[in-house]
Amino acid sequence: MATDNVVWHKHEVNKTTRSEKLGQTPRVFWLTGLSGSGKSTLANLLEKKLHEQNKHTYLLDGDNVRHGLCGDLGFSDKDRVENIRRISEVAKLFVDAGTIVLTAFISPFKADRDYCRSLMENGEFVEVFVDTPLEVCEKRDPKGLYKKARSGEIKDFTGIDSAYEAPEAPEVHLTYQDEPAEQTAERLYALLQEKGLV
Ligand code: PPS
Repeated sequence: MATDNVVWHKHEVNKTTRSEKLGQTPRVFWLTGLSGSGKSTLANLLEKKLHEQNKHTYLLDGDNVRHGLCGDLGFSDKDRVENIRRISEVAKLFVDAGTIVLTAFISPFKADRDYCRSLMENGEFVEVFVDTPLEVCEKRDPKGLYKKARSGEIKDFTGIDSAYEAPEAPEVHLTYQDEPAEQTAERLYALLQEKGLV
């Protein structure tokens, strides 16, 4: 293995000491759902709310990360797996830094979401299923991508000719109905509060 001769260093300043200093419990709120489901909008609103409460947060967003860290990846199954693997490792580093991380990736495959969960300690990984039906996402089509996918201009589009494996037991199952995003974000926050996660 590539790590055979690499020794792990244990540092004295660690996740516990950093979290204590920040006065918060680090976690990952992992939003998953179809393109156009509202992940980014909701993650943004949730981060704003946490930020207002002086929480130290960081939002990793699909479209943004794909301009940098994952700029070499496309949308084949193999590339999506690698995309989520990299994000998971980055999320782990942020959690180790004591940060509350929000992620907004389609993350269509259960095994990859479970991989991220496996990197975290108990309770640190909070899967949020943004459950907006395909018909609704396609009607919204904010970037015109569904239209392109239907016409064959874009291949491997999630929900059209690429799979989305819906979470079976997410910590939070959020139906995104036809209501203002702010209202949905409030519902999300309330659900997280009920579970003692914020
Ligand atoms: S994944 O599956 O988790 O690796 O995807 P992600 O990194 O979240 O990127 C999704 C955004 O990329 C745009 N896009 C596509 N999505 C799905 N399938 C295909 N083929 C595709 N091509 C481009 C799209 O804008 C997604 O943004 P969101 O915010 O999800 O709508």
